[in-house]
Order: sequence, then structure tokens, then C-alpha cells
Amino acid sequence: MANTILVGAQWGDEGKGKIIDFLTEHADIVVRSQGGNNAGHTVILGDKKYVLHLIPSGILRPEKVCVIGNGVVIDPVSLVGELETLKSQGVKILKNHLLISDAAHLVFPYHRMLDELREARKGRNKIGTTKRGIGPAYGDKAARTGLRICDLIQPELFTEKLRAKIRENNAILKALGAPPVSFKEINDSYLGAGEKLRSFVTNTVVYLHEALKAGREILFEGAQGTFLDIDHGTYPYVTSSNTTAGGACTGSGVAPHRMDRVIGVMKAYTTRVGEGPFPTEDPVIGDMLHSMGREFGATTGRARRCGWFDAVATRYAAMINGIDDLAVTNLDGLDGLDWIKVCTHYKVGRKRLEVPPADCRQLADCRPVYVEFEGWKRPTGDVKKWSDLPPQAREYLKAIAEITGAKLAIASVGPGRDQTIVV
Ligand code: GDP
Ligand code: IMO
Ligand code: MG
Repeated sequence: MANTILVGAQWGDEGKGKIIDFLTEHADIVVRSQGGNNAGHTVILGDKKYVLHLIPSGILRPEKVCVIGNGVVIDPVSLVGELETLKSQGVKILKNHLLISDAAHLVFPYHRMLDELREARKGRNKIGTTKRGIGPAYGDKAARTGLRICDLIQPELFTEKLRAKIRENNAILKALGAPPVSFKEINDSYLGAGEKLRSFVTNTVVYLHEALKAGREILFEGAQGTFLDIDHGTYPYVTSSNTTAGGACTGSGVAPHRMDRVIGVMKAYTTRVGEGPFPTEDPVIGDMLHSMGREFGATTGRARRCGWFDAVATRYAAMINGIDDLAVTNLDGLDGLDWIKVCTHYKVGRKRLEVPPADCRQLADCRPVYVEFEGWKRPTGDVKKWSDLPPQAREYLKAIAEITGAKLAIASVGPGRDQTIVV
């Protein structure tokens, strides 16, 4: 399969977890390189559902190695909880099955509190974050005041650094009218989690380079999606990391010329959780999907906002990420529709836009211009082969791939591993 970067081509929740699990069969190593436990990647195996937040979705295949790279921000208490949940679900996690970068930054309870407080102060201009402390944690990283996994596994050093951080953050919390956090509680719980994680911690850059030298193949699991990217997304309604393909290099220490292929995952329609402009949002498709019990967030349980497929967005995503191949998920979500809309470009006043504007207020003013496709009006969930898909569904998939500007490689017609059509 060569070294492959998989990214979300929309606003997150495109079905990356499902596609990663499917592709892991042909990879040796799966790497997460950005984001934190704001991610929620769902994998369904038989009647079991797994939701991965920090641990790569490759963990469900016991012979594969999973790596949490330096670009990820880790809440160690939450990571221990995730490992325990997986163990209780029967997933075996051996010492050399999971590796954690010693250079990854830590998320603390004061980051979560600051995330919530900043959101509350923004009022109706809030971002709608997952409240996992992601923005403040990456903020500390950029400000060069963060603590890292390598600190956590040196208890004396950690305690000393944490004491100073708590002093500083309690002053900030006080100024914002919030109660202080307890140094002792955080120190104890984090050192406890650190002991449980210690055996997984290593220099993952060296590990990945040795693996590449030995000819092993790596799959990079993107979190969030292109339009939540801190540089290229609908700023400020974004997350705080580079969710696009370049983030896989910086967040893992694997050089760009070692990457062979980029796969973009997108839904056959569009969803978004949280605030921010969303040109093709439409309650018609939202009400239909929600009434089927679909499109509720894997991390926060929030109802996702839904809209038609937005080719302006996916075309731009193909450009930024260098997407070679597309995996289109949730085709079955459109099974009941007579007609399906696809946005080909935007209009602002009389101006035609082929790419999203940088200013999110301008994006909010964009009117989507649609073409319509005939629906197939029959269930696709049991289809195993491209040639068995209804002709209208094949036409639709070919059209959205063409207008996005990449090759259709996978079509997904349900959450299960076997509901995946290789085109
Ligand atoms: P991720 O964050 O990109 O990994 O996506 P999520 O797991 O947050 O959300 C995608 C949702 O769609 C999950 O509930 C998946 O089980 C589900 N899913 C993925 N692909 C398909 C599909 O082709 N059809 C259906 N019905 N569900 C899918
Ligand atoms: P996966 O990996 C969808 C959104 C939040 C909010 C914005 C900022 O499952 O696709 P943050 O907590 O990161 O500061 O929130 O980003 N967001 C996601 N939306 N899927 C995700 O991850 C997301 N992670 C963050 O809803 O709008
Ligand atoms: Mg998700």
C-alpha cells in the first residue's frame, strides 16, 4: 500500500475511522500525528462498536503497531481511560503494539476550563469546541510553555514544572472569575497515569525511521478535517492543529518525500459539528438523517449539522492535501432521496467563486449553486461490488469524484468492514 496519508476532506467525521480500519489490513503501522481527544473515530466490527479518541483506529488489528506521534496533544488520564475501555471490550494492547511519542504535549484540566471559559465569554460568537482543552493546549505549545510526555515520565521534574504552571493558570482562572485547580490532585492523577503509560513511551521518530528502512508500510490517520485546519480551515471556526496532509509530516517526524499517496475521505453529503459557516447546510437532509438516528457526534453526542455535497470545499481540499484517491462514505445516507443536490460553485452577489474565501464572514454570505442528480431510491447497504450499485449511485459517485478532481477508490455503504466497495 506504500506510505499513505489519510485526511478528512470536509469538516471532520467523514468516516476516517472506518476507512483506516479497512486499510490497516495492508499496512504495518498506523500513526496519529495531530489533534487530541477532540477526535472520535468510530469502527464497527460485527455487533461491537469502538470509538477511538487518541489511539489510532489500527489498534483493532492485533498484529499492527499503532503510534501516537509528537504532534498529538495528549490528556494522559483520558488516554488511560481509553486503554481501559478498549481492554474491557476485549482488545489486547501489548507493550510493543502501541507507542507514544515522548515529545507529544500534554492537555491539563486548566486547559479544559480555559476552553470552556473562553467559549462562554464569546457568547454567540463561540466556536462550539469539544471542550477538551485542545486550543489552550496547542496555545501553550506555541507559546513554548507546555509540558510534554517526556516531562510526565520524570516525576520530580514534572512536579516542579507543574507547580509553576498551576500557579500561572490559577492566576488566569481567578482573573476570569473561575475557581482554582488543585495542584495536588492534578500532580497525583497525572503521575499515576504517567506510570501506566511509561512502557509505551519512546522516541517515535527513530522508531518510524527504522521501520521505513526495513520497508514497513505506514498509514497516517488524520483527525478532524481539512476545513478545521488551523491554517486552511474556516478560521476562527477551526481546531488548533494542521489537519491537512502536511500535518502528518510535522506531527510524526517523517519527511514529505517518504509519503507516497494521499487519500481523502468525504461523505456523500456534508456534515459539520460546532459553529461556523456552512454554505450547503439544509434542514431537508438534516431532518432526514437525524430521523434515521444518524449524524450524532462520536465525541460529544451533539447533533451534526447536515448539508449537500459541497464540491467547492472538496476541490479545495484536493488541492491543499494533494489528494490522489477518494474514499466516499455514507452513500447509503442518500438511499431514500428522489433528487440529490451537489454544490458546484458559490455566488456572492453576482460574483462566481470556485474556492472558499478566507474570510469566514464572506463564506457565510456565499450562496451555493447546485446541480441535481436523480436518486436511486433503493437500499445500498448490502451491495458488495461496484457493478451491483444502482446506476444512478454510480453516476453520482463518479460525478462528485470528477468535480473534486481526484480518483474514486472506495465507496462505503454502511459502517461495517464488509460494507466497503473497492472501485
Ligand atoms: P471520523 O471521525 O471521520 O472517524 O467519523 P465518525 O466515526 O465520527 O463518524 C462517522 C460515522 O459514520 C460513524 O458513526 C461511522 O460508523 C459511520 N459510517 C462510516 N461510514 C459509513 C457508511 O458508509 N454508512 C453508514 N451508514 N455509516 C457510516
Ligand atoms: P474527528 O477526528 C468533527 C470541531 C468542533 C469545533 C471545532 C473546534 O472525529 O473528525 P476543538 O475542540 O478542536 O477546539 O473544536 O472543531 N471538531 C470536530 N468536528 N470531528 C472532529 O474530529 C472534530 N474535532 C474538533 O466541533 O467546531
Ligand atoms: Mg469523528
